[in-house]
Amino acid sequence: MAKPYVFITMQIPNEIVSLLEKVAHVGMWEADIPCPRDKLLEEAAKADALFTMVVDRIDEEVLRTGQNLKLVANMAVGYDNIDLKTAKQLGIMVTNTPDVLSEATADLTFALLMATARRLVEASLALYEGKWTSWSPMYMAGQDVYGKTLGIVGMGRIGEAVARRAKGFDMEILYHNRHRKPDAEEKLGATYCSFEQLLQQADFVVSLAPLTPETRHLFGRREFELMKKTAIFINASRGPVVDEDALYHALKEKQIWAAGLDVFQQEPVPIDHPLLTLPNLVPLPHIGSASIPARMAMARLAAENIMLGLSGQKPKTLIDE
Ligand code: DGY
Repeated sequence: MAKPYVFITMQIPNEIVSLLEKVAHVGMWEADIPCPRDKLLEEAAKADALFTMVVDRIDEEVLRTGQNLKLVANMAVGYDNIDLKTAKQLGIMVTNTPDVLSEATADLTFALLMATARRLVEASLALYEGKWTSWSPMYMAGQDVYGKTLGIVGMGRIGEAVARRAKGFDMEILYHNRHRKPDAEEKLGATYCSFEQLLQQADFVVSLAPLTPETRHLFGRREFELMKKTAIFINASRGPVVDEDALYHALKEKQIWAAGLDVFQQEPVPIDHPLLTLPNLVPLPHIGSASIPARMAMARLAAENIMLGLSGQKPKTLIDE
């Protein structure tokens, strides 16, 4: 029987490519920038499986082009870039890479929270720019983390991993989620509360909510107004869960104290974006899961899903919605 064809939409480590080459012919867009749309369509037309990234828009056009397409393996836990409904209609399996990135993403989320609270980037830049003239009582003074109240919006696996870290900082943990999580409440001492209560009570509001039609612009003017003046907002999920104009206004007018964003509405965020002019914003270039072990594990899991799916077995992490 002829070997199937797998197309990888971005450069991934050779070790993972070799794994796939054992069972398939493999094509790859050998660059660290997204595969151009016409190339993606051309490859989708021939592929049995696509190995995709969060930056690829796998919409109805791509899925329908794929006459032989059996599986799309997204190298991410999020899959808002894939038209799941059409994939289901066409009988195309879609997989993601949960669990293997949870701890790394929680590390980054907590690092961003701490960097924002204690103004690490602003302080370091001031030093580089020769603006550190002397120690002084309130120079670069930030907010405390230890003992404060953390509000997690979206208590999935990453949320729980963030909460575990917060326990070490003696934080009170509030959460809001589509479903209550009695397990997390018991294990982590987390308290479920309404979205509004969380916004009003938390010192740190951390968004880990996946992007869905319900969560688009979940954080807008009203939500920032409800937060404390000393609140810090962290977004490590998806840019469009935040209304960026509303966030800009809230930061500029000091309605909230600061924000840390790992994700943006448009990525890469345009360098002249108004948010980037604010000293009380810590921006990062979508690196939540970017530890070497986590990224390797994600790539390996995506490859394993392809190998299982193409050999007629159930992929390890099939999205079943
Ligand atoms: C994910 O896995 O969804 C991340 O955003 C990509 O690193």
